[in-house]
Amino acid sequence: MNIINVVGARPNLMKIAPIIDELATHPYVRQLLVHTGQHYDDNMSGVFFRELGLPEPDIYLGVGSGSHARQTAAVMVAFEDVLAQKQPDLVIVVGDVNSTLACALTAAKMGVLVAHVEAGLRSFDRSMPEEINRILTDLLADYLFTTCAEANQNLRREGIPEEKVFFVGNVMIDTLLRHRQAALQRDTLARYSLAPGQYGVVTLHRPSNVDNGRQFGDIIDSLAILQELLPLIFPLHPRTRQNLRELDLYLRLASLPHMTLTEPLGYLDFLNLMSQARLVLTDSGGIQEETTILGVPCLTLRPNTERPITITEGTNHLVGAGKHGIIETSQQILNNGSKPVHRPALWDGQAAQRIVDVLLRHRTAL
Ligand code: UD1
Repeated sequence: MNIINVVGARPNLMKIAPIIDELATHPYVRQLLVHTGQHYDDNMSGVFFRELGLPEPDIYLGVGSGSHARQTAAVMVAFEDVLAQKQPDLVIVVGDVNSTLACALTAAKMGVLVAHVEAGLRSFDRSMPEEINRILTDLLADYLFTTCAEANQNLRREGIPEEKVFFVGNVMIDTLLRHRQAALQRDTLARYSLAPGQYGVVTLHRPSNVDNGRQFGDIIDSLAILQELLPLIFPLHPRTRQNLRELDLYLRLASLPHMTLTEPLGYLDFLNLMSQARLVLTDSGGIQEETTILGVPCLTLRPNTERPITITEGTNHLVGAGKHGIIETSQQILNNGSKPVHRPALWDGQAAQRIVDVLLRHRTAL
């Protein structure tokens, strides 16, 4: 069985890691790792390879940054050559980034089977580039691995045949549970002069929050109020840092007395920071899931989420990007702590094993 695993951007790395480990336990599986190079900085990619024990990519496409069409097209052109040369039986793509769609589309057109891990999530907001990537990747995939029952319902509604869909749990949580103890051993808090349970973590990188000066300025005003109540640490995504400079907002944010700005952090430092935070403010998808498992309150600065289970069962609150929602909800959490949490079904560290079991059961088709 010849499998190509694809990664492109930071959030792909923690999702593919447990799948690679699991596939490696089966001697008749030959796997290659292709990195598209959508994310290329060491602190967006290299550090995760080292900390998660990922093998070096066998093939690096080096596509880099660009507009959506250019980036997607560049991945497709390069990946077509890889498929022609390597002739795999199956391509595994994860998540919802441009590399996910580009490789799924290329493989499907060349008659190579596609497995999509984290299928069926929907924000029902097509202004998000990831929503387009999710819908199209799911249409193309032959094996759709889901993290929750809602995802199965979404796929059913879109007419995806039931026999292609497998509810297996959450590979991102496999990785979190595997690395949690090692993360807590690190001196991350001391390095940033933070005390356990007495700080908040902020991450923002969605175009809808950080590409528009007025919107981003409003969020910074809210953070300015909040950091008076709770010191904040904010690792800056490259898009966010670049926009802060271009929109002339950097000094406004950096001059807040209880705000620490850092470069993007590695997996273990960031997991340590999240684990011991009083609350987390984010527009990331994965962090909504991770905070649910860690039992740390999460404020999602978006109008919608493709991960509603983190609200109904987890610690997530959808607050939008307005001052009222951010401050009111933060105050409520500071006063009352987290809401009760149920661990979502199958978010138990075994998702990768279930995925590989399904693939091996179907191996005559591969
Ligand atoms: C991408 C994903 C998003 C994911 C996020 C996680 C898409 C459409 N978006 O968004 O779903 O949540 O990754 O980080 O695929 N840059 C660097 N160094 C890097 C990578 C990017 O400086 O290593 C800068 C470049 O200026 C680039 C910008 O960041 O233009 C944005 O990168 P890009 O890959 O286009 O999208 P993200 O915003 O990172």
